Amino acid sequence: MNDVISIVGTGYVGLTTAAVLANAGYKTYTIDIDENKINTIKSGKSYFYEPGLDGFVDRAVSLGNLIPTTSYLESIPNSNIVFICVGTPSNDDGSVNLKYIFESISSVIDNAKSDLVLVQKSTVPVETAKKIEKLIKEKNRTDIKIDVISAPEFLRESSAVFDTLFFDRLVVGSRNEESANKIIEIYKNVDNFSKIVNYEKFIDYAFNNVSKKYLENLLPFEKRIIRTEVESAELLKVTANSFLAMKISFANTIARICDATGAKSKEVMDGIGMDPRIGRAFLYPGLGFSGGCFPKDVAGMINTANEYDVDFGMLEEVVKVNTSQINIAINKLKKLIGENLEGKIISVLGLSFKPGTSDVRKSQSIYLIKRLIKLGATVKAFDPKAIDEAKHDFVHQNLNYTTSIESACDRSDCIIIATEWKEFIDFDYNSISTIINQKNILDCRNCLNALSLKNNNFNYLGF
Ligand code: UGA
Repeated sequence: MNDVISIVGTGYVGLTTAAVLANAGYKTYTIDIDENKINTIKSGKSYFYEPGLDGFVDRAVSLGNLIPTTSYLESIPNSNIVFICVGTPSNDDGSVNLKYIFESISSVIDNAKSDLVLVQKSTVPVETAKKIEKLIKEKNRTDIKIDVISAPEFLRESSAVFDTLFFDRLVVGSRNEESANKIIEIYKNVDNFSKIVNYEKFIDYAFNNVSKKYLENLLPFEKRIIRTEVESAELLKVTANSFLAMKISFANTIARICDATGAKSKEVMDGIGMDPRIGRAFLYPGLGFSGGCFPKDVAGMINTANEYDVDFGMLEEVVKVNTSQINIAINKLKKLIGENLEGKIISVLGLSFKPGTSDVRKSQSIYLIKRLIKLGATVKAFDPKAIDEAKHDFVHQNLNYTTSIESACDRSDCIIIATEWKEFIDFDYNSISTIINQKNILDCRNCLNALSLKNNNFNYLGF
């Protein structure tokens, strides 16, 4: 493996990709402008919680394959392949802020000493590669060739390492055959590594969720490669996330009809999910989608549609439904404890946008907490991993972050399950009967055993 890789950006995509490539044998620089983050990685750890990642980072750093740095000058001149994995946050109008993309690529171009394949992995609007190519031209580096490839990332937080090792597809949007082949070769080596990796050695609980069936059904490497136009690769990434978000809002709307009638959403979704044209995934009603990807990518897609004069009102509805899931939760809560929330103690279990991560970006749980406080309630909140990040995001005198389920539920008028952590699913709610004020549970993720709770005299409402 003579290729030397630099990966710019140490977030979920950048650091996971860097750690896996370094474990697969590549000399890999992981670059970030934030010195604190780089120092944490140098000590063999990730600075965010992602199951199994620490083991990979630690091993790669001690082998000397993973080199964390803040310096483009140290890394880029030695590299022939550069992955761009920087953040692309939303602007206030929903458009995508490409500041970090252009700043980082500018530094890459300025520091390059020989030909480069520039692999764009950050999620960006269609035609961003054309703007990058324009920037390369403007920099007038006639001494070297820099080829831009769009290879979007599909990993999910909470199973990032697994998804990187056992990727379901590799999309390579390229204008140059040779550069495309280079990237495919790198992923072939990741695939080879995935077959020999003794993942239990580095990975604790990520692999509890591994579906054996998924691995059995994984297509051979060649069949997972999708070669496309650069623009198709860019567009298909945001299309995938928009479509998944649409499925969730669709399910949430059907669930509202279920609530108003005698229908049960699980039965309806199981019934339609049997149709392979529909599929069962992403039809779980609940508090709605959040996180660093879906809200941003849906907004970005609406913005792109507007820019090209395409009416995508359908996607605007998806956002509307998702936002109003908070109202649905409040109405359900009022059914349990009455209209007036003033002075009530509400226990919110779960702060991260989904289980298995400490990420609270755009978390519906935190939006719900803000609304509860506005309505006069006092909130006690607990999360197994996300307390620190939540404290960073939102603090209020009527919000207590607690250190256990029990302390969050002390004198509670209603327990709300906002994120379906295993800890909350396995918990024996009967054991806290004597410390709560009222036996009410609002299960915003339909993850508890409703029948057993009802049998134990809990008033239970799901979605
Ligand atoms: C998502 C995509 O699933 C990844 O393929 C993609 O690579 C990633 O965004 C990205 O663009 O970086 P992620 O944000 O980690 O991954 O989370 P998901 O597991 O997709 O869940 C997103 C949200 O939808 C969560 O808040 C989850 O609770 C919610 N959800 C999901 C539902 O409310 N119902 C469902 O049926 C499924």
